[in-house]
Amino acid sequence: MCGIVGAVLTEGSVLEGLLGGLRVLEYRGYDSAGVALGLEGGVSIRRKAGRIEKLEDDLRAVPLADSPIGIGHTRWATHGPPTDENAHPHTDNQRRLALVHNGIIENHSELRAELEAEGVTFSSGTDTEALAHLLGRELDRSAPSLAEALRRALRLVHGYYAVAAMRFGDEKELVCARQGPPICVGVTPEGSYLGSDVLALIPHTRDIVFLEDGDVCELAPGRMEVTRIDGSVVQRASHHVSWEEADAGKGVYPHYMLKEIHEQPDVLARTAFSRIDEARGDVNLGHDELGDGGWSDALLQSIDRVQVAACGTALHAGYIARYLIEGLARIPVDVDYASEFRYRDPVLAPNTLALAISQSGETADTLAAQRLAREKGCTPAAICNVAGSTLVRESDAVVLTNAGPEIGVASTKAFVAQVIAAYLLAVRLGRARGVIDRVQGLELVRELRLLRPSLERLLSEDHVAEIKAVAGRHLNAKGFMFLGRGINYPVALEGALKLKEISYMHAEGYPAGEMKHGPIALIEPGMSTVVVNSRGLVADKARSNVEQVRARGGQVICVGSDPESLALADEAIEVPRSSEWLSPVLNVIPLQLLSYEIARLRGCDIDKPRNLAKSVTVE
Ligand code: M6R
Repeated sequence: MCGIVGAVLTEGSVLEGLLGGLRVLEYRGYDSAGVALGLEGGVSIRRKAGRIEKLEDDLRAVPLADSPIGIGHTRWATHGPPTDENAHPHTDNQRRLALVHNGIIENHSELRAELEAEGVTFSSGTDTEALAHLLGRELDRSAPSLAEALRRALRLVHGYYAVAAMRFGDEKELVCARQGPPICVGVTPEGSYLGSDVLALIPHTRDIVFLEDGDVCELAPGRMEVTRIDGSVVQRASHHVSWEEADAGKGVYPHYMLKEIHEQPDVLARTAFSRIDEARGDVNLGHDELGDGGWSDALLQSIDRVQVAACGTALHAGYIARYLIEGLARIPVDVDYASEFRYRDPVLAPNTLALAISQSGETADTLAAQRLAREKGCTPAAICNVAGSTLVRESDAVVLTNAGPEIGVASTKAFVAQVIAAYLLAVRLGRARGVIDRVQGLELVRELRLLRPSLERLLSEDHVAEIKAVAGRHLNAKGFMFLGRGINYPVALEGALKLKEISYMHAEGYPAGEMKHGPIALIEPGMSTVVVNSRGLVADKARSNVEQVRARGGQVICVGSDPESLALADEAIEVPRSSEWLSPVLNVIPLQLLSYEIARLRGCDIDKPRNLAKSVTVE
C-alpha cells in the first residue's frame, strides 16, 4: 500500500531525509514515487512512475531548491494507472500546497464534478486530486490555517485515508490525518516527522504517536497538536518503540526475506524465552511496554470460546492456534478469514475471546473483524508484532510477538512468532484454568527451549544447500500440491502460499485427507507434491498420501520427521524431531527456503513480488 513521509525542520534541507524515508517504505509495494518541497508562497513537486531510483535520477538531473519542509509518497495505483501525472503529491490550481494520500476517497467523482463546475482544472485521474483542490477551496474561503482547511475538507470526504499536506506561506505548515490506514508522527527539537509506519520515523525518533481514526495533526519543530475533525483538541500518548534503525536493513543477505528466515532462532528466543516461568511451569504473556498484556487470570478463566480472525499467513497461524488451544487448553476455537467474518453476521457465544492475529496490526479486514466482535460483546485480544499498532491499541489483551520489523512481503519470521505466541497463550490458558498442571506446564515450556538448536540446524549451510538442490530439480514442475494433516495441515497451506507469492508458480495446499476427494486428479508425472509429515498422531495417515502420489507418477518431496514417509519419498528433507505441538515451527522452515530458492532460480523479484503489498490497509 502507498507510503507517506513528511518532515518540517528548524533549519536545513528536508529532501535527503524524505528520500531515505521513501526507500525504507519501499517494501510496502508501489509503482510510482514523488516528493514536494515548500518554497515561500508555493510548492515544487517532482514525481515519477516506476522505482524511487527514477525519481532520484530526475532530481539529480534537475535539482530542486533546498527546503526545510516537504512530503513524499510511494503510490500503489488504485484510481488511474501508474503514470507521472497520477503519482503523488498533488496540488491545487494555484500550487499553494501539496498533498499525498493512502486509501480511497469513495465520493471522489461527486467531488470532482462539483469542483469542475466551480472552474477547477484536474490534471490527473486520481481520487486524491479532489482532496488537494478541496483544500485549495477552503484556503480561498479564508480557512485560517492548513490544518483548518484539512478539517473542513475532510468533513466532505467519504472513504478511508491517511493523508499528509503542507504549504510554506507565512509559516511552515505540515499536517496529516487518518481515517483507516495508519499514520504516525514523531517530534524532536530539530524537526517533526510523519510516516505511514514506524520504520520511516526511527532514524529520527523512537517515541512515536499513532494517530487514531478521525484525528488531524498539526506539526512544527518541537511540537505537535492533535485535534478531531470538529476541531476539538485531544491528547495522544507517545509509545516508545524498541526497534533499531539497523533492523530495517538487509544486513549481509541479498534479500529481506532470506534475512528474516535466518532471524528465526532469535525470534524464538525473543518471543518465548523471557516469558518462560520454569518455577511455575507456566509463561507470562506480558511485555515491557504492556505490563501483563491484559491477560488477567479472571479473563483467562472466563473464556468459553475463542474466535480467531486473520488474513493470509496470519490466518494460517490462526489455524495452528486452533489445534493448540483446543488441544492444550481444551477450549473450543473457531477460525475465519477476517474478510468473511466481517460480513457474515456471525453468531458469537457469550464469553468469546475474539483473537485477531496480525503482523502489522493494520490490516483493514482484521481490524474490521475485531471491531465487529467487540460490538457483539466479545473480548478483543490480539497476537501482533507492532507495539503501537491500531490492533494493539484496540485490544483488551495482547501477546506481542517481538519478531522485529518484517520487511519482506512474504511473511516468514512473523508466522513463526505467531505460532509460538499461540503456543504460549494455549499453555497460559491451560494453566490458568487448571487443565495443565505444573509438571505438564514445565514439560511444555521446556520443549520451547529445545527448538532453538533445531532451528539453527535447519538454517545451517548444509541444510540450505540440500534445499537449493531440491529447488533446482523442481523448478519447472507443472504445479505444486502441499499436503499436511493435523497441526501440520496449516503448514501445507502456508507452504503453498509462500511459493505462489514469490515464485508465481501454481501451488495449492490441502489437508492430506482431502486429496482423494478431488485434488488427486491433478497428480501426474511432472507434478510436484510436498507432504509435510512429522511423527505423531496422524503420521501414518499422511504417509499413505506419499504412496498414493507416487503410485500415480507424481514426484513427492517429504518434509518432516516421520522416517517412513521420508524413506518412501522421491526427495527427503528431514526435520529434527520435536513435540508434535511445536512441529509446525520447524516444518515451515524448509518450505520457506524452498520457495525462496525456487523464486531466486526463476529470477523473481523476491522482496517486491508483483501485485502484492506488505500491509493491506484498505479492503
Ligand atoms: O499484517 P498482517 O499479518 O495482518 O497481514 C496479513 C496478510 O496480508 C499477510 O500475511 C500476507 O498474506 C503475506 N503476504 C503473506 O506472506
